[in-house]
Amino acid sequence: MSTNTLLILPGDGIGPEVMAEVRKVINWFGENRGLKFDVSEDLVGGAAYDAHGVPLHDDTMARAQEVDAVLLGAVGGPKYDDLDFSVKPERGLLRLRKEMDLYSNLRPAQCFDALADFSSLKKDIVAGLDIMILRELTSGVYFGEPRGIFEEGNERVGINTQRYTESEIERAARSAFELAMRRGKKVCSMEKANVMESGILWREVTTRVAKDYPEVELSHMYADNGAMQLVRAPKQFDVIFTDNLFGDILSDCAAMLTGSLGMLPSASLGAPMANGRPKALYEPVHGSAPDITGQGKANPIACVLSFAMALRYSFDQGDEATRLEQAIEAVLAKGLRTGDLLGAEGGTPISTSEMGDAIVTALQESL
Ligand code: NAI
Ligand code: MG
Repeated sequence: MSTNTLLILPGDGIGPEVMAEVRKVINWFGENRGLKFDVSEDLVGGAAYDAHGVPLHDDTMARAQEVDAVLLGAVGGPKYDDLDFSVKPERGLLRLRKEMDLYSNLRPAQCFDALADFSSLKKDIVAGLDIMILRELTSGVYFGEPRGIFEEGNERVGINTQRYTESEIERAARSAFELAMRRGKKVCSMEKANVMESGILWREVTTRVAKDYPEVELSHMYADNGAMQLVRAPKQFDVIFTDNLFGDILSDCAAMLTGSLGMLPSASLGAPMANGRPKALYEPVHGSAPDITGQGKANPIACVLSFAMALRYSFDQGDEATRLEQAIEAVLAKGLRTGDLLGAEGGTPISTSEMGDAIVTALQESL
């Protein structure tokens, strides 16, 4: 069996707190499922700045390029707010994404039954929801040239350019179809082909790539309608495939279908490496949560679910990923909640480490 190399970057704020719980889970898989990980740990964000004066050391970057998967906690915090833009904690994360060329951002919106009441939508609309948004992450309007604020006559004009090459669309589309093959075999591509040429090209290329995946059903939707459908009847979707800007908005919208920020994982994938595994960075969606740092209040589930995604997409352990997700479902079904998961009716929260222990107990009970 090949070794599974994993680089852990806990980062700042609650990052190290939630990562400590993931460590318990990783150890459990090593001891009970024969899944051995070659784990290394390093600094990112403010923690790296404090040690090296940069938010990501070159050695860390080089290591990230070699490993099967990088698992990151969170970066940033008030202590670093006044730093120069070039060394801000976020720059460490941006450098990782850029240099690893992670073009496919996967954001699941999965509703755990025990938390269905937590959604802002009616329970029957979200119960059992399991969709995945694939957002193109390295191109589009956030990167297109020309960009800037220019003088034009006697006023200023702000310009950004939506720009996609065929190859950029194609590689991300392939990820979307590969993903659909492992899931419900449906891709809904969202753009604005009615008013944007980049959308016309997006639709054309996606339709062409679909021919290589005859088992997958492809549909197209204008992104504004997509937003409406997402809150009206989200269960109609399996994989939603969309660009950087629409994906930014639609993924945040989908996230809130399922409740708390403390529950949301993500993956960013790039091209396959020599061993066939994609370049990969896994991280919770939430930030460093300075308001609760050091108080044992952080919900570690988003980070644990990010590790579950790593099991599935980097380590080819889909069944073990499902085991971990079901363990979390079981913990929630027992009524165990960190503070962020307590609704209006209140209750007694458990701590970050108690939640980690409960997940390990549920894993043990799954055997
Ligand atoms: P945030 O996600 O850190 O926190 C927003 C709210 O959600 C806070 O009230 C926080 O306590 C709560 N929260 C977040 N994660 C939680 C968890 N796991 N368990 C329980 N409650 C949780 O976003 P905010 O406050 O806008 O940013 C704080 C810092 O984090 C800033 O420095 C920001 O730049 C950075 N940030 C970093 C990100 C990353 O590393 N990917 C993403 C977003 C923000
Ligand atoms: Mg966003």
